[in-house]
Amino acid sequence: MLDLLVINAALPGQEALTEIGCKDGRIVMVEPDIEVEAAQVIDAEGFLVTPPFVDSHFHMDATLSAGMPRRNESGTLLEGIRIWGELKPDLTPQGLKERALKLLRWSVAKGNLAIRTHVDTTDPSLMAVDVLLEVREEMKDFVDIQLVAFPQDGVLRAPKGVELLERALDKGVDVVGGIPHFERTMDQGRESVRVLCEIAARRGLMVDMHCDESDDPHSRHVESLAFETQRLGLQGRVTGSHLTSMHSMDNYYVSKLLPLMAEAGMHCVCNPLVNMNLQGRHDTYPKRRGLMRVPELMGMGINVAFGHDDVMDPWYPMGSHDMLEVAHMGAHALHMTGMDGLRKMFRAVTENGARVLGLEGYGLAPGCNADFVILQASDEIEALRLRPARLWVVRRGRVVSRTPKVEARVDMGNGEELVDFT
Ligand code: FE2
Repeated sequence: MLDLLVINAALPGQEALTEIGCKDGRIVMVEPDIEVEAAQVIDAEGFLVTPPFVDSHFHMDATLSAGMPRRNESGTLLEGIRIWGELKPDLTPQGLKERALKLLRWSVAKGNLAIRTHVDTTDPSLMAVDVLLEVREEMKDFVDIQLVAFPQDGVLRAPKGVELLERALDKGVDVVGGIPHFERTMDQGRESVRVLCEIAARRGLMVDMHCDESDDPHSRHVESLAFETQRLGLQGRVTGSHLTSMHSMDNYYVSKLLPLMAEAGMHCVCNPLVNMNLQGRHDTYPKRRGLMRVPELMGMGINVAFGHDDVMDPWYPMGSHDMLEVAHMGAHALHMTGMDGLRKMFRAVTENGARVLGLEGYGLAPGCNADFVILQASDEIEALRLRPARLWVVRRGRVVSRTPKVEARVDMGNGEELVDFT
């Protein structure tokens, strides 16, 4: 007896419809015709069943705080950091937790069942760290949350930055973060990368740094990150996030940099929505896009995933935590609208993210966790085009969210016709 059977399921990249059988929180069968009784049957009606979306880069401590205490009018990263600094003293654990839990309801409704979130560790009380550790534990049946110790004001620049970051890791934060381009000098930035990678090596942790998030073509911290990864034997455990300066770097330099990153087995996380908003703000015309060179990185075999980064906070006033919006923006901004490019955009918000987080049991094969999303679309490309309803969201074999099918009833004089945009 199965707990759940999904019939008429379209899997990514497969022509024929299939069936998925789940028991005890795992997928146990994926076959065209499963002849086993099930406690619950879902008819996917030929729609796409995909492993859950993964947000590889988020800031849950700041989310849904837009307007507190004021809006970011210039739209720049630096004004965002200033507003966050003004807001921090007024944050309460109750308010922060309420906003995080509200956001997570949106995440589940959108089929995001794994989130890597940075949490600011430069506040001496480490209040946000404690709250998000609590949220990670309370929500673990619904979402995998991975926390990154993120010294927003610079681990060397902020008073007691290293000590506070280590205390956050002692409390159970999962990953070592950093922000070398925000240290006082380029040398200090390089030094911060060394210090942080050594902490990760000593503790056996992963690293995920905000790196070169500027339009400065001479910002070189990703080179230091690749070097330290290789020097300390951290291959496969290190992620460079944002890397927006790579857009503006000299082409010859990039031709040297990418092989170093590939050699170090680095992962990269691009944040198309937020960096399309923040970068190029000092430009007149033409205005730079400010995204890392995703097609070239992928071409080198480097794993690139996408993050939402922000939802309604000092850096980004929009969003509903929909990873298909992120991939949709990526497709346009990165010129990846060919069929192969679009499929890569879909993978950047699903399986590539799972690799960044090191998720176990991710996928739709027998033995994987029974976690998946049924979208109102026939394949990945239609999903990107429509960013459709997440009809069913399943976590460990249990339905955790349902959204009704979206259909317009159009009457243009000949009676009502159903329009679903397919
Ligand atoms: Fe970020």
